[in-house]
Amino acid sequence: MNRFLQPRTQPLIIAHRGSSTHAPENTLAAFALAADQGADAIELDVTLTRDGQVVVIHDDTLDRTTNGHGRVDQLPYAEVAQVDAGAKFNPKFAGERMPLLSQVFETVGQRVLINVEIKSTTVRSTGLEARVIDLIRRHGLIERVLVSSFNPLALITIKRAEPRLACGLLYSPDEPIYLSRAWLAPLIPNLNARHPRANTVTADVVKQIHARGQKINVWTVLEPAEVKTLTAIGVDGLIGNDPVMMSDVLKKLPEH
Ligand code: G3P
Ligand code: MG
Repeated sequence: MNRFLQPRTQPLIIAHRGSSTHAPENTLAAFALAADQGADAIELDVTLTRDGQVVVIHDDTLDRTTNGHGRVDQLPYAEVAQVDAGAKFNPKFAGERMPLLSQVFETVGQRVLINVEIKSTTVRSTGLEARVIDLIRRHGLIERVLVSSFNPLALITIKRAEPRLACGLLYSPDEPIYLSRAWLAPLIPNLNARHPRANTVTADVVKQIHARGQKINVWTVLEPAEVKTLTAIGVDGLIGNDPVMMSDVLKKLPEH
């Protein structure tokens, strides 16, 4: 059984873009630190370079998090590989690179579970889903990866190509109306999890999702009070920026 889907006494601690409070988001430094800090899992965002390499970055462009410029999907990997993805967060992380998904799998794939978020806004697949499946298979991580996306078509593509792979649908009131709630979830075969924004979740929402046999992993959990209330209402995973804070709060709660 996929490790994200196993029953647990407390929610999974899922480090959002790695331990992104303490290290530059979506870098190997942030992922290794999350593992060191006791996170059960990491969340990361993937996109394709112009020449079809699967790289880990949240935005469409390099500008916010690196010293590079431009759209990742218009640059060859050789150029993307040169940019510094650490110094903008803190000069002590200068030299940190934007990782390939394969490098993340190699570095921390056996230490933490991995929630791979597919960044896709297209109706027709760009090929990203097939590349991600290929990498997961080659690294033997089918049981340790859960794929999520705001784009239900990406998850349909994944489930058709690899039904064993666990999938979670993201949704949020900030998205266009058709992605703001899980309207399209019924179109995804054997959807395993729902990933709503944390501040939209109530005890009733958790019950309804569990009644469908699905898990509920929520984001972005930033405050100790949220960890307590979300745990009390029974969510299965806390996707947040600071695994140290999340585990400190969970350790003090009685296990249920
Ligand atoms: O996967 C949870 C969260 O990462 C979704 O939003 O914009 O941070 O990728 P975003
Ligand atoms: Mg994300």
